[in-house]
Amino acid sequence: MEFPELKNDLLLRALRGEEVERPPVWMMRQAGRFLPDYRVLREKYTFFERCKNPKLVSEITTMPVWQVGVDAAILFSDILVVPEALGFEVQMIPGVGPLLPRTVKTLEDVQAIEIPDVEVALDYVMKGIQQTRMDLKGEVPLIGFAGAPFTLLCYMVQGKGSKDFSEAKSFCFSQPEAAHLLLQKITDITISYMKAQIKAGAQAFQLFDSWAGLLGPDAFMEFSYPYLKQIMAECTEVPSVVFAKGAWFALKELAATGANAVGVDWNCKPGFAREQIGSEKTVQGNFDPSMLHAPIEVIERETKKMIDAFGKDKYVVNLGHGILPSVPVEHAKAFVNTVKTYRAE
Ligand code: CP3
Repeated sequence: MEFPELKNDLLLRALRGEEVERPPVWMMRQAGRFLPDYRVLREKYTFFERCKNPKLVSEITTMPVWQVGVDAAILFSDILVVPEALGFEVQMIPGVGPLLPRTVKTLEDVQAIEIPDVEVALDYVMKGIQQTRMDLKGEVPLIGFAGAPFTLLCYMVQGKGSKDFSEAKSFCFSQPEAAHLLLQKITDITISYMKAQIKAGAQAFQLFDSWAGLLGPDAFMEFSYPYLKQIMAECTEVPSVVFAKGAWFALKELAATGANAVGVDWNCKPGFAREQIGSEKTVQGNFDPSMLHAPIEVIERETKKMIDAFGKDKYVVNLGHGILPSVPVEHAKAFVNTVKTYRAE
């Protein structure tokens, strides 16, 4: 499919490590969550109705571009569409979060999982990408995404959100053979899924390993890293970001996955992140999402301080995790505008 020519390529340049006038800015979970217009759509349609209708996907994906002025759009979808495509029903309970009525418990459960053709099972995602690329009119690039294998294992084993995902981790340590087979199956479908998103029109992609930080350094190397590396080795057509929340102990390894950029959360000092990730890679992050509730002058001051600390090049301004639903739109705009008017001194 032919899409309108890209006008603002700051994100792609920063991810490739090229010199930029100022760093690009976008916010994790910017699509949905905090914009009042999204909340209206939420009253009218269920979560999966929103995810499976390309017109709604495009409308929600482009909202923060038109209303807040971010330098990139991230597709409105969810990491849990992959478990659903693997045959695990996912319910989104308002006010609670995801619930998977059927979970993985044994090696037999894993062996029974069949990998579908993603172009069929997740065709609604590809249609959403195409619709969004048309509607973006080349204004900013579109980021595709997937959950990292370990994070998806957490939901497939535990069946719901958790502070520590202890059942999922116990599954890894007590049944490593089953865990590795599951991680490999998720990796295989994720590689085809990312390739299909790229073919449909995603211009960059991010892997979310939201729960990697629950693992210790050795367990991370066993249950997360090899799979991230496989995905990054196969999906090289567009620039990529790997974000493993809380895994500050593995930044060197994350840089070695082959991703163009490594995301960091607010627990990580800019100098430490730079030193670990090395001069070849781009860093993304790491404003504390809660700090978007501070007075606007504080947001402006802290944002400038953050850019000074990371440096304008090989840097993508973002939050250290998803934006909170309670953030006032004016505060998100202040964050974005501070980046857009930033000039290195
Ligand atoms: O960045 C974006 O806004 C694009 C869309 C997006 C969603 N989920 C939409 C969504 C993205 C990138 C995700 C990723 C995701 N989903 C992650 C990884 C990132 C992270 O925050 O760590 C995880 C762990 C999930 C799983 C998930 N989906 C949870 C825990 C929940 C419930 C609570 C929550 O975070 O909002 C969801 C539901 C969900 N996914 C919503 C949205 C906008 C809220 C549901 C609604 O608005 O009805």
